[in-house]
Amino acid sequence: MTSPDTDLPPEGVRIAFVGKGGSGKSTVIGHLLAHWAEDGIPAAALDADEPGDEENGSLVEWADLADLGAPVYPAPARSGIRERAKQVTPAGGVLAVDTGAWIRKAGGTHFAVLSAVDLVVLTLAPTRMELDRAASVLAALEHLTEVGAHCPRLVICLTMVNPSAAAADETEATLREAGYQVLGTRVPRSDARDGYGQAFGRPPRLVPDSPMDKLAAELVAVAAEVSR
Ligand SMILES: Nc1ncnc2c1ncn2[C@@H]1O[C@H](COP(=O)(O)OP(=O)(O)OP(=O)(O)O)[C@@H](O)[C@H]1O
Ligand SMILES: [Mg+2]
Repeated sequence: MTSPDTDLPPEGVRIAFVGKGGSGKSTVIGHLLAHWAEDGIPAAALDADEPGDEENGSLVEWADLADLGAPVYPAPARSGIRERAKQVTPAGGVLAVDTGAWIRKAGGTHFAVLSAVDLVVLTLAPTRMELDRAASVLAALEHLTEVGAHCPRLVICLTMVNPSAAAADETEATLREAGYQVLGTRVPRSDARDGYGQAFGRPPRLVPDSPMDKLAAELVAVAAEVSR
């Protein structure tokens, strides 16, 4: 374990992960927790995926089945999310907040989560259709800004990326032109037996310099910058 050398504030930072169903939110968070733990960064997660929406397995369920290196707490009802998120944010560390599939209609727990975090990561598979479907998420964040509500800084993480296709470059260019910040690290689609797609229920594999390892470091750097 290397000693943590981060600029995270003493009170810690909170990062929400939002995105359409199946865009890889829970898979990414499971890996990030393990990498942060490995790097000596205090970490925890709050699972705000609504009950009954668990076809792919929730983060809480994964943490029950395998050691993710950091605790995962179920989120309370929507009105309690903000307070609970503050309570379970590790000092000098990171709280990752998982959310259920973003639905077009506003409501549910998503806005409660957005009000509780410093940074929001939109996970997005780089296809034309997913970009169109993400419009409702982007519009919701813009709406928060317009009405003067707390609006966390947004960064976009390309997931399920097929490294041999140009789609990710095109999507990234489109997003950048529109003024959005796209993370340098992309999460590849990996369906192999030991790939990200098969990780649920098992301890995340800690591969140095892998995309998840790099994403863990990049997000800590962005979160530290946001909290400054
Ligand atoms: N990088 C990846 N490569 C291949 N398969 C992946 C990858 N990430 C996730 N998967 C698979 O895709 C499915 C959806 O992933 P995951 O559950 O992480 O998405 P999610 O955004 O949390 O979905 P939900 O909104 O339903 O909670 C799962 O079967 C998972 O194993
Ligand atoms: Mg999920």
